[in-house]
Amino acid sequence: MTETTMHVAQGRFQVLRFPIEKNEKLQAWDAADEYLLQDVAGKLDLDGQPSVLIVNDSFGALAVALSAYKPSVVSDSFISQAATRKNLALNQIDLTTVRLFDSLVLPQDKFDFILIKAPKTLAFLEDMLIRLQDNLTVNTQVIVAGMVKNLPASVWQLMARYLGETRPSKAVKKARLIYAQVDMDHVVPINPYPVYYPLENTQYQICNHANIFSHKSLDIGTRFFLEHLPQDDKYQQVVDLGCGNGVVGLIFSEKNPNAQLHFVDESFMAVASAEENFKQTVTTVSASFQADDALTDFEDKSIDLILCNPPFHQQNTIGGHIALRMFEQSKKVLKQGGELWVIGNRHLGYHVSLKKFFSKVEVMVSNAKFVIIKASNS
Ligand SMILES: C[S@@+](CC[C@H](N)C(=O)[O-])C[C@H]1O[C@@H](n2cnc3c(N)ncnc32)[C@H](O)[C@@H]1O
Repeated sequence: MTETTMHVAQGRFQVLRFPIEKNEKLQAWDAADEYLLQDVAGKLDLDGQPSVLIVNDSFGALAVALSAYKPSVVSDSFISQAATRKNLALNQIDLTTVRLFDSLVLPQDKFDFILIKAPKTLAFLEDMLIRLQDNLTVNTQVIVAGMVKNLPASVWQLMARYLGETRPSKAVKKARLIYAQVDMDHVVPINPYPVYYPLENTQYQICNHANIFSHKSLDIGTRFFLEHLPQDDKYQQVVDLGCGNGVVGLIFSEKNPNAQLHFVDESFMAVASAEENFKQTVTTVSASFQADDALTDFEDKSIDLILCNPPFHQQNTIGGHIALRMFEQSKKVLKQGGELWVIGNRHLGYHVSLKKFFSKVEVMVSNAKFVIIKASNS
């Protein structure tokens, strides 16, 4: 059985992954969380009321264990924030002890400790290190924690460039900590994020915040999807599920200007990018932009069409189970006769998974690498 009780220097806590899955095989924290908590236990003096900022906590393990310090917590993940709230409640910790911030709105305060769980996207770490400059003092202790495989030399180089001298810990259970000595005299370049690229064959300049899927250029799978998006007046309520920078919904809207679009992603940066990009369309129909876990907040039988380029991972979690949940939820949210259009790599075998939920599953178009599949229950 998967361990859900975390024993660390700060105490013993229940920490679960969210959303809760039957037969969950993965723990909600890792050896890097344990190492970091062990390391700071001797440094954080409760009587001195140190100010603590946690960045990119996975499911709230760090926030729960350090709640006595009333930490601020910054994350780009809606799911991580929801999990943090649920895990605080599970441990009878008052939710107001932890201040949650989404990645685009940082706290204004200076911090004694900034504890960063190494993110998957290097660009996101770079953007955070640049934007955290206002939260630093010469005495701030910045520690980046991660599994050794997630800490390439480029992580250390970014820390050295944006903070000052770095020093690694020894590796313990394949996890490592990197400490930075803040040098207030270092010169911080202008933040390159968000980055923009021109969307081929259009007049659009696509805005990409740092944590966006394929933020430097159009993904080749997405390009194939854009070339084959459907056009029909029957599509009135349309969701761009896992919207990233929102190009799928944007181009769909151009072909179907009367459709009402709903952009959903679990990344706050994705939703902000999609909103910024959609402002460029000429459609007069309003659109909605939601950070959410897939379609959790949509009403049953309310949508005509869902467009989805499913995630291979959700922040640091890899797995096809996220796509499966998206398909299952799509079935509930689609009206009778509504359609789910999915693009995927041929080898992912999405048509097999889709058949679990839909009676009609058709390959609409394919090339050597990708397939576009339409699933419906009509
Ligand atoms: C492969 S990218 C597709 C992005 C964009 N639609 C495109 O085609 O370029 C998948 C997106 O799903 C998002 N995602 C991952 N887990 C999610 C979840 N549980 N709910 C909503 N979005 C999620 C990721 O943040 C990512 O932006």
